[in-house]
Amino acid sequence: MIRIARSVVLPRSGRRFAAFQHSSSSSYSSSSSTDRPSSHATVGNKDSVAETAPHFASITVLGGGQMGAGIAQTAATFNYTVNLVDMSDDALSRGQGYIIKSLKRVAKMRFKGDEPQQSRFVDDVLSRIKLSTDTESAAAGADLIIEAIIEQIETKRAVFGVLDKVAPAEAILASNTSSLPIGAIGEAVGDKRKGQLAGLHFFNPVPQMKLVEIVRTERTTDETIDRLRAFAKSIDKAPVLCRDTPGFIVNRLLVPYLAEAIRMLERGDATAEDIDTAMKCGAGYPMGPFQLLDYVGLDTVKFILDGWYKEGEGLAGSDLVRPSEKLDELVRNGRLGVKSGAGFYDY
Ligand code: 3HC
Repeated sequence: MIRIARSVVLPRSGRRFAAFQHSSSSSYSSSSSTDRPSSHATVGNKDSVAETAPHFASITVLGGGQMGAGIAQTAATFNYTVNLVDMSDDALSRGQGYIIKSLKRVAKMRFKGDEPQQSRFVDDVLSRIKLSTDTESAAAGADLIIEAIIEQIETKRAVFGVLDKVAPAEAILASNTSSLPIGAIGEAVGDKRKGQLAGLHFFNPVPQMKLVEIVRTERTTDETIDRLRAFAKSIDKAPVLCRDTPGFIVNRLLVPYLAEAIRMLERGDATAEDIDTAMKCGAGYPMGPFQLLDYVGLDTVKFILDGWYKEGEGLAGSDLVRPSEKLDELVRNGRLGVKSGAGFYDY
């Protein structure tokens, strides 16, 4: 079992931070960290947890969609106490549903054939995730707040304005946005907090994908970056640092690639199936572009393309991100990908 082995006082703030350690009988241990991380994370990696310093006593994740739920699940798996916040009980129970489904999947792989151990694992992680519809009180006790709500700049801005007022002075405010500028999201936060504002961008499926992009604005302090980097490592992720530019690193490269795959289909150059097979077998990608489009969500990709084509720094008006008629039509018809049961493919 993972257990809290000790707690230490971080001198800067005087707050108590839990340091985590696995008992020697831990069944969670798997391959150790290496300097060149693999592209996929291992859940509950013994070495990576033990090697890192203590970080945050309590984490609040705003948004119980796939990303928010995945972030909450991952942090809780590594022994963090997490508040998962959404606007309604329905949204929260949907989020909890994603978490349970994903945890069961992880448990089945990890404790093959041992059902009692699988259930203990699921219950143990779930016990560290508290569900709430009260943003203010969930933020008031958190020292790291990760926003993963709807991709609407005005909504995010308003939420960050509230967070700035209610969160403890030393709390870091992070956004998991995939395409909006962190600086613009954080416009409403006070001057002092601007140093504690950053992007913390996870990838779907969060428990499995190893990467976290840490996005620094012109105001983000080195201390904030260091704390986020240490946090990412403590949950067995591979952090990379980048500037606050459209799409950061991955989406800046990935979204034009996905858009070009759609254009290829629109031109009739090849079928979606053959393009997918080509990229999987010829380029070694785990999913072809149309499988990935359906997996990420066609509405999400359309939102990103439309936004960047209109006003993305260095991308506005560029053919790289030109909106696609085919994509617009699928979204208009409610074919949003895996989540709606149909996209480029039927599920
Ligand atoms: N939760 C937890 N674990 C999961 C999971 C989930 N939802 N989905 C898959 N996994 C784990 C499985 O448990 C398994 O773990 P193991 O390696 O310990 O056995 C492992 O992933 C492989 O799963 P499967 O064998 O069932 O399936 P695949 O081999 O087909 O892998 C995949 C599934 C991991 C999704 C793989 O196809 C993949 O890596 N696809 C690419 C995903 C990708 O590119 N994501 C980034 C999208 S861009 C993004 O998120 C940015 C956003 O801003 C738009």
